[in-house]
Amino acid sequence: MMDLKGKKAFIAGVGDDQGYAWAIAKALAEAGATILIGTWTPMVNIFTQSWKLGKFDESRLLSDGSLMEYAKLYALDAAFDTPDDVPQEIKDNKRYQEASHYTISEVAAKIAEDFGNIDIVVHCLANGPEVKKPLLETSRKGYLAAVSASAYSFVSMLKHFGPIINPGGSTVSLTYLASEKAVPGYGGGMSSAKAALESDTRTLAWEAGRKWGIRVNTISAGPLRSRAARAIGTIDSMIEYSKANAPLIKEMMAEEVGNAAAFLLSNRRASAITGVTLYVDNGMHAMGMAMDSSSLQTQKRN
Ligand SMILES: NC(=O)c1ccc[n+]([C@@H]2O[C@H](COP(=O)([O-])OP(=O)(O)OC[C@H]3O[C@@H](n4cnc5c(N)ncnc54)[C@H](O)[C@@H]3O)[C@@H](O)[C@H]2O)c1
Repeated sequence: MMDLKGKKAFIAGVGDDQGYAWAIAKALAEAGATILIGTWTPMVNIFTQSWKLGKFDESRLLSDGSLMEYAKLYALDAAFDTPDDVPQEIKDNKRYQEASHYTISEVAAKIAEDFGNIDIVVHCLANGPEVKKPLLETSRKGYLAAVSASAYSFVSMLKHFGPIINPGGSTVSLTYLASEKAVPGYGGGMSSAKAALESDTRTLAWEAGRKWGIRVNTISAGPLRSRAARAIGTIDSMIEYSKANAPLIKEMMAEEVGNAAAFLLSNRRASAITGVTLYVDNGMHAMGMAMDSSSLQTQKRN
């Protein structure tokens, strides 16, 4: 159903065709929305080159046979709110030198200039420089960097985009179960960042609902072999674990999160839903027991 026809959607966190952001963009394009993309500043060249070279053509295919297009791509570094926040060493970095206007306030201002008001904002990005370290070994700097890039970035995006989101508009972010249950291997303060993101979803639903009449939700997604997840290093075993222990025995498909996001972002379908953490994880969150645990085998034998 083309229930997002005429709507403009900004999806932040598209770096390739493997992650959740791509699948959300595609689901929104299927529903008829105009797609604006936010790509992490150092990834912009590789992304646009791969796009031009046709590397994403297969993944761009929509159900009507056309290829997904984006109206414009914006370089974005969601760790910075204004140009004054960008440290000199970042400005000097060769992957940032050619880029400009990539802080959150500048991207919001440019989008307003280029397209006027928009309807949808998706926050599908995270970064934890010490994600491989257990929380007990995480430095203050690493912890704050994870919370800054992965949680405050959403607060800031809502603050800057809120005024240009039409009433009835909607936002979605992506979270993970490690916010509420211990998941060894998801370290560096990333579990803390996701807990903040989920709590902020409720508080911001109240504030943005009252202020702008827009909705704020988050999707708690199951394990997907994205670039970010591969960097953490435990993704294959997380997928196996889910298959062994979740109610539904299948691997997560990015489209499943894309479809759930398209639902939450549609004001025709989800107009009374705000402040929610929606699990799209084959039901993993509902389990309190690991069914493949070897200790269960021992019990059976006794
Ligand atoms: N893959 C999983 O198993 C899984 C599970 C649950 C939740 N999530 C969440 O889904 C979201 C998308 O991640 P993904 O797994 O699809 O991986 P991904 O690598 O496709 O997406 C992460 C994106 O964040 C971007 N990014 C990093 N730092 C940034 C910054 N400072 N400014 C702007 N962009 C920045 C990266 O360039 C990348 O494109 C994240 O919030 C992640 O935590 C992923």
